[in-house]
Amino acid sequence: MDKFLINGPCKIKGNVSISGSKNASLPILAATLLFDKPVVIKNLPRVRDINTMLNLLKSLGSKIILSRDKKTAKIINKKNMKTFASYSLVKTMRGSILVLGPLISKYHKSKISLPGGCLIGARPVNYHLTALKKLGMKYELKDGYILAKSKGKLSGTTINFPKISVGATENSIIAACLAKGKTILKNCAIEPEIKDLTNFLNKAGAKIKWKGRVCKIIGVNSLNQTEYSVMADRIMAGTFCIAACLNQGSLEIKNLNPKIINSELNLLKKVGARIKTTENKILIKGPKKIKSIKNIKTKEFPGVATDLQSQLMVLMCKANGKSTITENIFENRFMHVAELRRLGAKINVKKNQAIIRGVNKFVAAPLISSDLRGSIALVLAAISAEGTSRVDRIYHLDRGAENFENKLKKIGVKIKRLK
Ligand code: EPZ
Repeated sequence: MDKFLINGPCKIKGNVSISGSKNASLPILAATLLFDKPVVIKNLPRVRDINTMLNLLKSLGSKIILSRDKKTAKIINKKNMKTFASYSLVKTMRGSILVLGPLISKYHKSKISLPGGCLIGARPVNYHLTALKKLGMKYELKDGYILAKSKGKLSGTTINFPKISVGATENSIIAACLAKGKTILKNCAIEPEIKDLTNFLNKAGAKIKWKGRVCKIIGVNSLNQTEYSVMADRIMAGTFCIAACLNQGSLEIKNLNPKIINSELNLLKKVGARIKTTENKILIKGPKKIKSIKNIKTKEFPGVATDLQSQLMVLMCKANGKSTITENIFENRFMHVAELRRLGAKINVKKNQAIIRGVNKFVAAPLISSDLRGSIALVLAAISAEGTSRVDRIYHLDRGAENFENKLKKIGVKIKRLK
């Protein structure tokens, strides 16, 4: 299993270009199942979850032609696509559930493995199923699979999500594009990745409009041949901003609209960072003394992203004083805490709140990753620790952070991958 050796502390300096967003690419790739005509998706990140989704599409019958740099995929669907997504594909990536909406909408049947829980929480898919049922899908759960079908086209309706869910919003929007009549989705997630999905679908001829958390979709008969470039990864941009704050670094972060990480940039300003933004760039200088923040809370967009919680915790560990972080999205997203303690962090966890007392320094230690964002946080922590840390099980990180170690090397991090 691959691991990183990181020799810290490192001062970060230079510029970094942000790759395409994994969490925007996944629903967009799933939505290509709606198309009869070829679709070209550009700016895909070269990470394992994207390969998994492309393999899933291939297993359903899509022909996929990748560009040399593997960032552009031309996807051509067969007339008769398969509708079966096996456990072996779904178990490696929960995002696979996003093919359910398009398969039902276009092919009116699907057998797809029920995704299990994962380390960050139980992560059920009840909101996906209830919403698709309202659109006309019938389903039963059998032997770990969702067996779903519909009598022809789905029918537009009004759905009020009981809780905001990124995936359920995406699945329902994709399914409603080819449904009969008008669908109104209320209490939707409005993460930038979802807006990217609807920009893509509208470019292909879908009729989707937003007003706050309400999404209105008028069904169309088919979607047009189209090309689309996926948005930049706001979570990776936020991660690099935090990295710059850790040891008085200074970074130019290119290729991202700073507005989509506004909440997080405001937090970093409170921490003491100096930040300048232009239309597609962030210039950030880390503070001499990192100020602690009492009340960080993760929330649905436009709140602070849960996918940046573990990285922010590393920063608060090095702050001057006491901070608290409350995780409001996932029930078990503090697995990195025990590993950070091994570097010298002082963190107490009470239910969904972490109380952090800042320490002057971290001392290197061997660390084990347990999930994607947690492993990114461990890399940041190792960068700011004195000595050589080993970060094990980085296959989690390879699921979603494109070219991470090379980008870090370029900005001054002493990092080596061991195979
Ligand atoms: C998406 O997961 C992202 N994944 C996650 O990123 C991200 O952390 C999350 O949204 C929140 O922003 C992708 O985009 C592929 P949810 P998703 O449905 O769609 C509960 C990463 O590291 N819930 O908004 O699964 C759920 O358990 C990943 O890149 C139900 O109870 O998130 C959670 O507590 C990790 N029933 C909350 O809602 C449901 O049917 C929000 O989940 C659906 C969700």
